[in-house]
Amino acid sequence: MPPKYSAQYLSLVFMRRKVSVIGAGKVGSTVAHLLVLKGLADVVLVNRTEGIAQGVALDIKESIPVEGSESSIIGTGDYGKIEGSDIVVVTAGVPRKEGMSRDDLLKTNAQVVSGIAVQIKQHAPNSIVIVVSNPLDAMAYLVKQKTGFEKSRVIGMAGALDSSRFTTFIAEELKVAPKEVHTVILGSHGDSMVAILSATTVNGFTVSKLIEKDKLQKIVERARDGGAEIIKLEGSSAYYAPASSAVSIVDSILNDRKKVIPCSVYLEGEYGVSGTFLGVPVVLGSRGAEKIEVLQLSEDEKKALSDSASKISAQLPLLSGF
Ligand code: 2OP
Repeated sequence: MPPKYSAQYLSLVFMRRKVSVIGAGKVGSTVAHLLVLKGLADVVLVNRTEGIAQGVALDIKESIPVEGSESSIIGTGDYGKIEGSDIVVVTAGVPRKEGMSRDDLLKTNAQVVSGIAVQIKQHAPNSIVIVVSNPLDAMAYLVKQKTGFEKSRVIGMAGALDSSRFTTFIAEELKVAPKEVHTVILGSHGDSMVAILSATTVNGFTVSKLIEKDKLQKIVERARDGGAEIIKLEGSSAYYAPASSAVSIVDSILNDRKKVIPCSVYLEGEYGVSGTFLGVPVVLGSRGAEKIEVLQLSEDEKKALSDSASKISAQLPLLSGF
């Protein structure tokens, strides 16, 4: 009997997805591991120091028979291998240490991220880039500048993580399952992040009706300082929650789920902000950041968001030499 479908049709229907992860530190390795565990894509893990990406990838590959995943993974120092990537996740750069702000990393990481952006432009010109390196909003801006990609294809991972932290602490306070809690954190991934309390609900109820003001303010501060709390406890920057947050973005894009996730994207007038990256709610689908949702904000929230945007804009001239 002749085959029902041609090889070409089958290869199109069952086209494998490819995600490259740049940086095989703790965040990059965990992103790669989660992508393989979830079977989301074939993974290329890149690290400039010879042996590291190869070692991590081999370790993850050896877990595949146990996990039953259908993904494959390779580790390499060769950027040529990222060719054909649907998505590139940039995690490379120096992580924060105790007492440092994310902004202290600007110049060191700009050097690293700028070089990576040039490689992405050359080897994966049609990819969607998810930036995780800090200071997040400035690094996403730098990637957009260096690649020249349209704004829908450069996305910073921040609000997903900040919102997840905020959700965790609210759920803990109210002793409810995290999935009953819906939070929105906008603005910069840093000290000026903005928790949108009017859009924060627990099982449909506004959070400010359930948690008294002072306590809620303390929870907002704990979410804002969530990265620093982990550095203080374990001596190095967080990676499980940042990696899960990045993978949730990858999943929504690869599977065209159209989830609304707060991400840092380039704004051209939305929320009264132009010419910078800022965390806002974004619809994520196969074309990347497909749409920015504009929420009704209170006057205080608008002011906080505009202050947050000004802080990011002030960093951008520092990137001109990279
Ligand atoms: C954090 O907040 C890595 O910036 C990241 O933990």
